[in-house]
Amino acid sequence: MDVFATPAGAVDSLMARGAAFLGTRYAILGGAMSWVSERNLVAALSNAGAFGVIACGAMMPDRLAEEIAGTQALTDKPFGVNLITMHPNLMELVQVCLDAKVGHIVFAGGIPPGPAIKAAKEGGAKVICFAPALALAKKLVRSGADALVIEGSEAGGHIGPVSLTVLAQEILPHIRDVPVFVAGGIGRGEAILSYLEMGAAGVQIGTRFVCATESIAHPNFKRAFIRGAARDAMPTVQLDESFPVIPVRALQNEGTKRFLEHQAEVIRRYKAGEVAKEAGQLDIEHFWAGALRRAVIDGDVENGSLMAGQSVGMVTKEQPAAEIIAELLEQAQAALTARRAGA
Ligand SMILES: Cc1cc2nc3c(=O)[nH]c(=O)nc-3n(C[C@H](O)[C@H](O)[C@H](O)COP(=O)(O)O)c2cc1C
Repeated sequence: MDVFATPAGAVDSLMARGAAFLGTRYAILGGAMSWVSERNLVAALSNAGAFGVIACGAMMPDRLAEEIAGTQALTDKPFGVNLITMHPNLMELVQVCLDAKVGHIVFAGGIPPGPAIKAAKEGGAKVICFAPALALAKKLVRSGADALVIEGSEAGGHIGPVSLTVLAQEILPHIRDVPVFVAGGIGRGEAILSYLEMGAAGVQIGTRFVCATESIAHPNFKRAFIRGAARDAMPTVQLDESFPVIPVRALQNEGTKRFLEHQAEVIRRYKAGEVAKEAGQLDIEHFWAGALRRAVIDGDVENGSLMAGQSVGMVTKEQPAAEIIAELLEQAQAALTARRAGA
């Protein structure tokens, strides 16, 4: 399906601000997904008129430079790079993006340090930040963010505690100076339309793009998404508040069961005086190390991490990125047309 054959309509005009900011036809960001959002998916999304975003994750600067160059070889359309703020080489990674003339840097995983925002902007890139609450959204705009993403707890991967339904109401009416993109649980065009009408500049979608034909995710990983229902995509369970775990939404599997047993065992050893608190905490944190790679690349869907959002139930088959985007836009446009006709 040729995404550019989608009838231009009022949805385009609702997306105009976000699309102008991204330099794309559609205000749809491909949410960066570690291991999944590499050159092939990113270029496919950008070539289809959306905005692909490379997930830098734990990549070191040389590796990121390679991935950006690889993406540039596959598309001449704009795309972004998502950098995790606690990466030890954050400033170098920003420089790699600037050297490669990447137009947009997305800072994720925490509030970005002032010098990183400053360097990105002075180097000519636009800065996109995640805002978990209204007060922080305002602070980020004051600190120089050119756009914000608000991500609800419906999303796949690391999540905050509040749903997009609520975050959108709390934040969209109050942030007008910069475009705000919404993320989490978006699986159909009707939802895109409703958030645009609430004042969102566009959307960010992850889960729906995992099974794009161009995505290099292992066939087992894609199969798990095609089979998965919303209720299977659950946040990690914390057994004891003295051993906090970072909430990650993922499909339940053997790994998630073993994680509970692992926590129980660490807590038992701590209570028996066999392990110090810090060592126990580290032990729990290390449980998932490398687990997303194991699932996405190696296809170990039993023990790896199957990070997925609640929209996973709306992933029903493998299909080209352009077709997914065209479907979303058609659904949004049809909903708008029907409403206007009925009004
Ligand atoms: C497998 C997977 C890996 C992800 N990895 C990252 C990441 O490395 N950095 C990041 O900022 N967000 C990451 N996310 C979140 C996405 O960028 C996006 O915001 C989220 O998927 C949107 O919600 P949705 O999945 O409901 O569409 C990941 C999500 C998934 C499903």
